[in-house]
Amino acid sequence: MLLLFVISKIRGESSDSNVEAWEGGEGIEEIGEKWWVEEEEDDEIGIEMWGAEVSRKVPVNVNSFGAAGDGIADDTQAFLDAWQKACSLENAVFLVPEGRRYKINATRFKGPCQDKLTIEIEGTIIAPEEPALWDPKSPRNWLTFNKLTGVRFQGGGVIDGSGSKWWAASCKINKTNPCKGAPTALTIDQCSGVRVKKLNFQYSQQIHFQISRSDSVRISGVRVTAPEDSPNTDGIHITESTNVAIQNVHIGTGDDCISIVNASSNIKMKNIKCGPGHGISIGSLGKDNSIAVVTAIVLDTAIISGTTNGVRIKTWQGGSGYCRGVRFQNVKMIDVKNPIIIDQFYCDSKTPCKNQTSAVKISGVIFKNICGTSKTPEAMKFACSDTVPCSGIVLNNINLEREDGIAETYCNCAMGIDYGVVKPPADCLKSSACGGGDKVEENEEILHTEL
Ligand SMILES: *[C@@H]1O[C@H](CO)[C@@H](O)[C@H](O)[C@H]1NC(C)=O
Ligand SMILES: *[C@@H]1O[C@H](CO)[C@@H](O)[C@H](O)[C@H]1NC(C)=O
Ligand SMILES: *[C@@H]1O[C@H](CO)[C@@H](O)[C@H](O)[C@H]1NC(C)=O
Ligand SMILES: *[C@@H]1O[C@H](CO)[C@@H](O)[C@H](O)[C@H]1NC(C)=O
Repeated sequence: MLLLFVISKIRGESSDSNVEAWEGGEGIEEIGEKWWVEEEEDDEIGIEMWGAEVSRKVPVNVNSFGAAGDGIADDTQAFLDAWQKACSLENAVFLVPEGRRYKINATRFKGPCQDKLTIEIEGTIIAPEEPALWDPKSPRNWLTFNKLTGVRFQGGGVIDGSGSKWWAASCKINKTNPCKGAPTALTIDQCSGVRVKKLNFQYSQQIHFQISRSDSVRISGVRVTAPEDSPNTDGIHITESTNVAIQNVHIGTGDDCISIVNASSNIKMKNIKCGPGHGISIGSLGKDNSIAVVTAIVLDTAIISGTTNGVRIKTWQGGSGYCRGVRFQNVKMIDVKNPIIIDQFYCDSKTPCKNQTSAVKISGVIFKNICGTSKTPEAMKFACSDTVPCSGIVLNNINLEREDGIAETYCNCAMGIDYGVVKPPADCLKSSACGGGDKVEENEEILHTEL
């Protein structure tokens, strides 16, 4: 036992490069600091600057196209007309002025457009609140921006999904209702080179802000707000997208603060405030026996508070494909139910899910410098598939405590290493029992040294 102790001491002093060499760690290197462009000084195009830049920027104000902005009238057509104009001009600024509320139906803002388009949302855009009157042709989308290149979204305005009636009708709230999806508030789809800066999302019907089938998207200064009990109201959802950077955002909703799913890679998140909600998630992956591939995901610097999960990877039984090259680091957890969790038995359906023989393979996942408080005993949970075990789980400098009681680590079919301080201890990563798993409690280390 003393020998074990000495070995772990040596490991504690091992350098980070050992970790990088670990299986799957290479994926991470692709998104080193070089890829991450720090916040540059932006040539903001606030109204005050237009005097000087009038020859460059061409404002296209929705009010000039008949938008009422009184929160009651239907301004959809005015927005479409203004969009057509803005899209046809170089250097256009599609302007939604401040101090007004514009009610807009489900709408597609289609590209491609002329170069250097800015979407300046200073006022509030609200959705019609009655689900029964929602356009049946767009059941899952409210505002969609499609096939745009090099556009900017900015302005500090508000996107308000008026979601309360949708939440009440959700099968998660009203159990007699059938389960069906509700609209995503704003989607950036099939776009590239997009910059999103300073926007507020609130009360979405379901997902607030989705990036789909896009490349090179940078998001900063975004705030997302919805009640803790609003169902499926993810903050930022990334699907089939590459090279996405999310920085300086503050999200509190009824579901994942950030969720990253199928066919996404090179996603970096930095300075994230999350809570309430379900935490920061990769997944769910592999639903309905689907194939998922997710690689090179980094979360660096976050405060996660009052959430059900902290950092999580969730996959359904029966899926396939893989998730590898993931790093969660410098995270403070405050009263989080499951601070660190890999769950390969995820099941979000009304009927229980059966265990199956295939699963999304999880490997090369690094958890580093994560501290704070766990609300339940299971501070760390690695519930991996019996047939497709997790490998290359790395824990370094973890200090998760329970305010009243003993914290523990659960492992099922999870293999990896730990070094530095790791509390609760995670020795179960070395033995990797399958078929039900095992637990290591906080005080086991003390028992070891006493023996
Ligand atoms: C917006 O939706 C409402 C309610 O369904 C409908 O009456 C109205 O015609 C729609 N507006 C447009 C421009 O389609
Ligand atoms: C649940 O939904 C049904 C059908 O839409 C409706 O009749 C019922 O009033 C709802 N229940 C509650 C508690 O809102
Ligand atoms: C996953 O992404 C791939 C590649 O974009 C796509 O072909 C496939 O349909 C996606 N699967 C699911 C379940 O969405
Ligand atoms: C699935 O497998 C896990 C791990 O072996 C086990 O803990 C769980 O009880 C199983 N679930 C079902 C529904 O059989």
